[in-house]
Amino acid sequence: MTKSAWSPSSWRQKPAQQLPEYPDQDALKAMEATLATYPPLVFAGEARALKAELARVGAGNGFLLQGGDCAEAFAEHHPDGIRDFFRVFLQMAAVLTYAAASPVTKVGRIAGQFAKPRSSPMETVGDVALPSYKGDIINDMAFTEEGRIPDPRRMEMAFRQSAATQNLLRAFAQGGYANLDNVHQWMLGFVEDSPQGHRYRNLADRISETLGFMRACGIDPSTTPQLRSTDLFTSHEALLLGYEEAFTRVDSTTGDHYSTSGHMVWIGDRTRQPDHAHVEWARGIKNPIGLKCGPSLTADGLIELLDILNPSNEAGRMTLICRFGADKVIDHLPGLIRAVEREGRNVVWSCDPMHGNTVSVSGYKTRPFDRILKEVQSFFAVHRSEGTHAGGIHIEMTGKNVTECTGGARPVTADTLSDRYHTQCDPRLNAEQAIELAFLIAENLQAEKRDRGAQVAA
Ligand code: PEP
Ligand code: CO
Repeated sequence: MTKSAWSPSSWRQKPAQQLPEYPDQDALKAMEATLATYPPLVFAGEARALKAELARVGAGNGFLLQGGDCAEAFAEHHPDGIRDFFRVFLQMAAVLTYAAASPVTKVGRIAGQFAKPRSSPMETVGDVALPSYKGDIINDMAFTEEGRIPDPRRMEMAFRQSAATQNLLRAFAQGGYANLDNVHQWMLGFVEDSPQGHRYRNLADRISETLGFMRACGIDPSTTPQLRSTDLFTSHEALLLGYEEAFTRVDSTTGDHYSTSGHMVWIGDRTRQPDHAHVEWARGIKNPIGLKCGPSLTADGLIELLDILNPSNEAGRMTLICRFGADKVIDHLPGLIRAVEREGRNVVWSCDPMHGNTVSVSGYKTRPFDRILKEVQSFFAVHRSEGTHAGGIHIEMTGKNVTECTGGARPVTADTLSDRYHTQCDPRLNAEQAIELAFLIAENLQAEKRDRGAQVAA
């Protein structure tokens, strides 16, 4: 089959799922044309650097930590929220790097994560049915007829918020905040007295001790940039293709097209039809691409998508983000891994333990933390038995002290869900739950390493 030529707008010739219908098409076109003149949020060279890191992860060396809000919100745009997310993310990375002795690639679901696919196009409250909320970049969460009309001006708001967020993240990452000497200060006040707080403090003490030793040997943050700064990449679901097209730009160094709305973009589980618009757009850009893999994806379907999205089998290009549900990992993951191994495809295997484990409790959408841990455990167990590398995690989390997922060491219960339930869309791990998860992953990475060591020795 010969494929027709790709261009940043060739997706418009394909059927598309989940795209909003804007009543004012002229306003939409004018906004898309304006956005196309705005500066890029990220550079092609940075996307290439991320791809090189992911290639290393795919080869079995390193771990991808990807996380952030389910959906960013205009009303929640506050520097403290960004800082607290960054702190917890750094803590998770410290746990993984130190306890598992594994380099960690940090990718936020942030600075562009605004558009949401929905399982139903309509939401009904009482006897009123209105179009579903699709993220602040498209319409308003307020359940009113006017609020739910897709409004192109929201794209500009989302761009400006993304730019401000990206700017602050760059400052945090490079400006001294991420200096390993601050490993104790990253802890948030409300975590300090929790079981995870104690566990983290022990680890931070050991890191400080190690830094003291290295300093005595002449290696310290003032002479070694890796100890005083970090790289935090950004990512989001490439759902709203008109917006994405406006930020699809030619890289002057290579002549290739890149998405400049984020370093990595992913294709959602509901929009991965091989002959549809989202896959069409993604195949032409050179960024690292994530592909959500849910229970309906077959092994043949996956290989077909890899053929389209990564015909040259470039390492670091594809991250497969598996989100089956705790009980379904065993049924689905081995078949996909075997197909990828048989065909010799280069991929990073990542686990999203959130989206297959959503339930409704006392009128709240929630996720039991033990199901989340179980999905991660099963993901690691399957990879160990297949002899492949469990390469990453993809989570919805926040630095805020929310009560959205039930369970954890200081448990959130069905009764306390309502205390601080703030999410704009899906329930997120709070800081304590996120750190607990990081320790569990570190243990699993250690076990994987021991297995590999045993194989080499045998
Ligand atoms: C998401 O990551 O927020 C999401 C909607 O995921 P999925 O496409 O896997 O359902
Ligand atoms: Co979500």
